[in-house]
Amino acid sequence: MAGRILIIGACGQIGTELTLKLRELHGNEAVVASDIREGAEELMQSGPFEILNATDEQHIREIVDRYDIKQVYLMAAMLSATAEKAPMKAWDLNMDSLFHILNLAKEGKIDKIFWPSSIAVFGPTTPKDQTPQTTIMEPTTVYGISKQTGERWCEYFYRKFGVDVRSIRYPGIISYKTLPGGGTTDYAIEIFHEAIKNGNYTSFLASDAALPMMYMDDAIKATVDIMEAPAEKIKIRSSYNLAAISFTPEILAEEIKKHIPDFEINYEPDFRQAIAESWPSSIDDSAAREHWGWTHEFDLEKMTAAMLKGVEETLKENASK
Ligand code: SER
Repeated sequence: MAGRILIIGACGQIGTELTLKLRELHGNEAVVASDIREGAEELMQSGPFEILNATDEQHIREIVDRYDIKQVYLMAAMLSATAEKAPMKAWDLNMDSLFHILNLAKEGKIDKIFWPSSIAVFGPTTPKDQTPQTTIMEPTTVYGISKQTGERWCEYFYRKFGVDVRSIRYPGIISYKTLPGGGTTDYAIEIFHEAIKNGNYTSFLASDAALPMMYMDDAIKATVDIMEAPAEKIKIRSSYNLAAISFTPEILAEEIKKHIPDFEINYEPDFRQAIAESWPSSIDDSAAREHWGWTHEFDLEKMTAAMLKGVEETLKENASK
């Protein structure tokens, strides 16, 4: 591949595993990881790493020039729960970083961009079940407003300047390698840690809060697949709906009980419940499936087994350090 790949936000929940996957696919030296702070040892040691603030345009440009970067994955963002606590900071981070990268592509310095959107672009007036690709979008969270705005700008830069930007609306992503930072769907990760450590969990979402979710391996596959697809297959340049599993805290707890029969769950919904209620329960992702061949592999059963195994191993490794 001519030119290198830059991951901004490489130490985050998705960034970490995405960087490792891209290094496996393209070679360690071809993938430059960057983040505002240092991250997992495996990531830091397997290839180039730069400390980078995603809002620092000059520094981004300097890194793009120095490493001959041709593709950028912009994974840095403030997620839904944290963004409600720092709205302006979230807006600045989520929007400024995107403009810096879109402008680099407009100038012809980079060829391709991956920018993640989210189920948070939908709101309380959106049809909740099997939410269509094109539908009412009136997000009520700061995070959702920033992602919806970002989608509009991505499509604008594609239409107006031919910028090759590709995007998917991630559902809640479930993984064990790196913890998520400040999302509404984080309960679906915490529950596994608490089930293994203490045998019980108090959920910050109500028992019946159904949300679209996906295991990390599927999210990484989708990201790699959309970026590798021929440009003409990417017919939607705002962002693609993407789906795998949908469940409630209660359903997930039942699945965990199949492995840990004494597991107990309690419910103490907080401000994140209102965010969850404003989002879809399930997503229609037929456009992604038709246009660029998206398929998922992990259902609830497979994801739960993989999480219990992964979290247990991670806890053991950490204890022996
Ligand atoms: N997982 C994200 C959040 O909860 C959704 O994009 O904020």
